[in-house]
Amino acid sequence: MDRTLPLSELPATGETLAHSRALGLLVALCRVARTDRVVPVASAHVSGVSYWNLGPAGLEYLESLASDGRVRVPTTLNPCAFWPAAPPPWVTDGQALLQARVLAAYEAMGVTPTCSCAPYLTDPAPLFGEHLAWAESSAVTFANSLLGARTEREGGPGALAAALCGFTPFAGLHLDENRRPRVGVRVTADLGEPWRAGLLGAWLGRTLGATVPLLTLDGPRPPGRAGWQALSAALITYGGAALFHVHGHTPEAAAFPTLPHQFVVTEAELDAERARLVDLTPGEAVQLVFSGCPHGVPGAPSPFPDGAPAPVRPWALFACGARHRGERTKGPPDTAGRSLRLPGGCPAVSPLPEEVRTVATDSVKAAFYLRSRGLRVGVASTEVCAGIAVTGRWPHAV
Ligand code: F3S
Repeated sequence: MDRTLPLSELPATGETLAHSRALGLLVALCRVARTDRVVPVASAHVSGVSYWNLGPAGLEYLESLASDGRVRVPTTLNPCAFWPAAPPPWVTDGQALLQARVLAAYEAMGVTPTCSCAPYLTDPAPLFGEHLAWAESSAVTFANSLLGARTEREGGPGALAAALCGFTPFAGLHLDENRRPRVGVRVTADLGEPWRAGLLGAWLGRTLGATVPLLTLDGPRPPGRAGWQALSAALITYGGAALFHVHGHTPEAAAFPTLPHQFVVTEAELDAERARLVDLTPGEAVQLVFSGCPHGVPGAPSPFPDGAPAPVRPWALFACGARHRGERTKGPPDTAGRSLRLPGGCPAVSPLPEEVRTVATDSVKAAFYLRSRGLRVGVASTEVCAGIAVTGRWPHAV
C-alpha cells in the first residue's frame, strides 16, 4: 500500500509555530532530495544532544521549539555529553546545567531521553519495512541492514522536524531502487570479535565509498550483535553507505541475485586497517581508555577493572545506554578510582579531562571522532584495552 503523500497535500502552516517551522524545513529538505513526496514514519531518533555540539545558538533554537512543539511519533534521543545529574569529576556545575537545559527542551517536546545511540536496544526495535527518520549514523546503518527498516541518515534538525510532523522526505534509502547491492565482497577474516567487524566496516567504507555491498562471510566466525553494531558504525563513519547486505544474515539479502566477488577481505586487510588506526608507539603513556561505542544495552557490564592499582592509571570510560529516568537521577555514576561509567553519554561529544592527549579504544568509529578532536589514538581489542586501563601504556604487541 502506498502511504506516501504529495507535498501539495500538506498544510501551508502548522498548528503551532514549532509545527510550522518543522513543515517549512521538511519542504526545503524535499527540494534538496529532489522529491515531491513525503512518507509517514513509525519513529524518529534525534541527534544533536550534547551542548558541546549545539552551542548557545543550538540551545536557543531547541528552547524556542520547545515552547509549543510536541512530537507526533515515538521519538528517542542520541547520547548527550554526560548525564547532568551524574557528571564526571572534571565537569563544572555550569557545564552540567547547560547539558540539563538541552535535555529539558527535548523532554518538553515529548522526546524520550533514552540518550543511546542504539535505540533498537532501548526501545522496541523497528519492524521490517517500516519507514523511520533516524539521525544517528550507526543506528541508521544497523536499522537499514540488520532490521530491514528504511531510513535516510537524517541530520538532527531534519529528524526533529520529522518527529514534529510525523513524516520525512520520500527519497534515498526509502526507495527500493536505492537498496540494491552493487558490489559483491567475500570476507574470509574472523569477525567473532566486535573490533574486527569494525575494522571490516572501515575497510568497506574507505574502499567502496557509498556503494551498497553484498557480503559473503566465509571466515571462521560471523559477528555477534556487538560486532554488527561495530560494522554498521564504522562503515558509514569511514565513508560507506548506510546499508549493507549479508547472505544468510540480513533480511533483504535473499531478494537479490548473487554478485561476483570483486573484492576479498582477509585477516591481512583488517590488520592493515588496524595499522592505519594506531598513532601510539609501544610503551607510550595512554591517558584515556574508552569502550562502549556504539552503546550496548542499559546496565551492560564495563570491561574495565574496578580500582586496579597501576603506576600511571588512565581514565577508563565505559559508555552504555541510559537507564530509565528514575534510576538516572539517583546520583553519581558508578565510580571506582578512575574507572567510570557514562550511562547516556559519549566521550566523542563531551568535555574531557584537560590532560588527555592519548586514547586507546576498541571502537573504530570512536577512533575517528577522537582523532578529529586532535587526540592521538590506538585501536585494539576490548581485552587489550582493559589491560591498558591497568598498565596505562600502549602495549608492544597488539
Ligand atoms: Fe555512540 Fe558516541 Fe560512538 S554516539 S556510536 S558512543 S561516537
